[in-house]
This record gives sequence, structure tokens and C-alpha cells, in this order.
Amino acid sequence: MLPTSEYILAIESSCDDTAAAVLHNQTVLSNCIANQAIHEAYGGVVPELASRAHQSKIVPVVQRALAEANIDKKQLTAIAYTQGPGLLGSLLVGGSFAKSLALALNLPLVPVHHMQGHLLVHFINQEGIPFPKFPFLGVTLSGGHTQLIKVNDYFEMELLGTTLDDAIGEAFDKCGKRMGLPYPAGPHIDRLAQEGNPHAFSFPIPKLEGYQVSYSGIKTAFTNFLQRNLNKNPNFISEHLNDLCASLQYTLIQIILGKIEQAATKEGLHQIVIGGGVAANSELRKQLTQKARNTQWDIFLPPLKYTTDNAAMIGISAYFKLTQNKKGKLSDTSNARLKF
Ligand code: KG4
Ligand code: ZN
Repeated sequence: MLPTSEYILAIESSCDDTAAAVLHNQTVLSNCIANQAIHEAYGGVVPELASRAHQSKIVPVVQRALAEANIDKKQLTAIAYTQGPGLLGSLLVGGSFAKSLALALNLPLVPVHHMQGHLLVHFINQEGIPFPKFPFLGVTLSGGHTQLIKVNDYFEMELLGTTLDDAIGEAFDKCGKRMGLPYPAGPHIDRLAQEGNPHAFSFPIPKLEGYQVSYSGIKTAFTNFLQRNLNKNPNFISEHLNDLCASLQYTLIQIILGKIEQAATKEGLHQIVIGGGVAANSELRKQLTQKARNTQWDIFLPPLKYTTDNAAMIGISAYFKLTQNKKGKLSDTSNARLKF
């Protein structure tokens, strides 16, 4: 039975974004994010700095989310937080904050799986956009994960395949770093690729059995390719930056598109639901949209504000947990490697 009226404060702190959102059932009233610029100087997320930054940002972000939603904390009916997976120090800040607030306000606590959130974000009310129907093929593409998932129900998710090594976002970021791009490099590569030729250079696509993917081989191949060319021409990167970005992006996307196609066909799943930061990639969105035109597939791409880490995805997951009476306890622990 669906609860009639839930006002949920959701907190997401699994990596380097401190985020808070307020939802009324499936409607997002506010969705606030404080990015941590501090990591740019290091070319990647420094876990200790991330947890310290969460500590200083969490109170103002939560206050902003309540103010933007025009909701007083006394109106809240539940507190949700990301239990895992993620960086333990970062998860602990959001988890401890959520527990303290739930205790102080005497509200139910709802722990949420971050990757489930990336997929369940498609169940947020958006005018004119239908919800996916179960079962569907969920594909999570982020800085830490690359997963193909058979989603039978909100919390019945079957992992079909995953990366054997690096995640797709990690490959974008690490290859971007080799080209001297700032962290996270994914959005920069996306932008620079728009002026480049995706067929200027070619990189190997790994041939793996089943639904597994691998992104570390291309990182090595790309690094070696850059080095060989830099030895001949020290300006190779700057002279070919757009083509390098377009060709790299093309290959990274072909790797996952091939697997999506294979899984959709073999599993007989024609709704493809994409989530995670890399779902913002314009070439991936273009290719999938084209695919939907030429096949029977229905493609669900999240709005850009719900691609990278956000708390609205945690709030919507909590809403469905509440409808199934799946509440958490104060003794639940944050888990860096939380499984489905
Ligand atoms: O889901 P997310 O915000 O955090 C994790 O859970 O990891 O994903 C972050 C990842 C980063 O690797 C970032 O480079 C990538 O998403 N990303 C993109 C784009 N926007 C973000 N990658 C390619 N193209 C983009 N437009
Ligand atoms: Zn994420």
C-alpha cells in the first residue's frame, strides 16, 4: 500500500559531492549540491579531504534544501541517506548526520544503495515523461561503476555484468588526465570531442565473454599511443586535442554499447534505463537515441541534473522503500562495498 504523504529529506555523500534534497512522494521539491572543488588541484578525489569537506558543507546544504523546498524540518516524515557503496569516510559523514537528525526528530531512517538510486531516479515525476516498466535493463555508468543489471522490481536487481577493472567514468578521467585535462575530465572530453573526428585514431575494443567489460586496456593503449606520438612531436596533444577526445570517447562508448546490445537481445529486455554521471555524455545520448529510432528499444536517459551524484535519487529510492516498509535502524553501518 502506498503511503499517502511522505516528506523525505535525503542526503548523498558517497564521494565528492555533498548533496541534499527534499521530496514529497515522487516529486522533487529541492535538489541541492555542493561540489568539492578542492580535488581539482590533485587530479582526482582525495578521500580524507572529501570527508572533511562533507563535514563543513553538510549543514548548509541541508538548510538550503529545506529552504528551497519551503519545508520546515518538523514537516519531514523520513530521513534518507546513502549507505554505500562509496568512500567510507564520506559515507560516514552523511550517515552519521542522517542518524542524528532522525533521532532528534524521531523520524524513520532509510538507508539507500547509491547505484540503485542512479536507476530509480527515473521514477521521479517529470511532466510528460513515462516511468520505465519492470523488468528492464538498467545500465549504470559512473566514476566507480559500469554495470548491466536486470531490474525486476524497485529493489530486485540482478547484476548481469560489470567491469573487470576500471569503470567507464574512470577511463574518461584517467585518459583525460594524461592529456592534461582537469578532474573530472569526462565533461571536458565530451565538450572537446564535439569539434573532433571520432575516426581520426582507433583504439582496441576488448572482446570479452558474456556481459563483462574492461576499461583498463584502452587506458594503457591510449597512454602508450600518446607517449609514442609525444616522442616524435612534443605538441602532439595540443595539436590533436579535439580528435583525440572524439576518438577516445567513441571507443569508450562503443565498448558499452556493444554490451548493452548483447544484453538487450539475449535477455529480451527492450527498455534500456541509463544512470550515473556518464549518462550525461552527449555522444552516448545521441547514439542511444538513434538506436531507439532504428530498433524496438525504449531508451530512458535521465535529465542532466539527475545524471551525476545527487540526493534526489536517494530520496526517490527511499520513497519506494517506505512504500514497502523497508526502514533502517540506527545500528545500520555505512558500507564502502555495499552489494545490491
Ligand atoms: O555518478 P557520478 O557523479 O559519481 C560516481 O558515482 O562515480 O559519476 C562521475 C563520473 C566521472 O567519471 C565524470 O567524468 C563522468 O561521470 N562524467 C562524464 C560526463 N559528465 C560526468 N563522462 C563523460 N561525459 C560527460 N558529459
Ligand atoms: Zn554515482
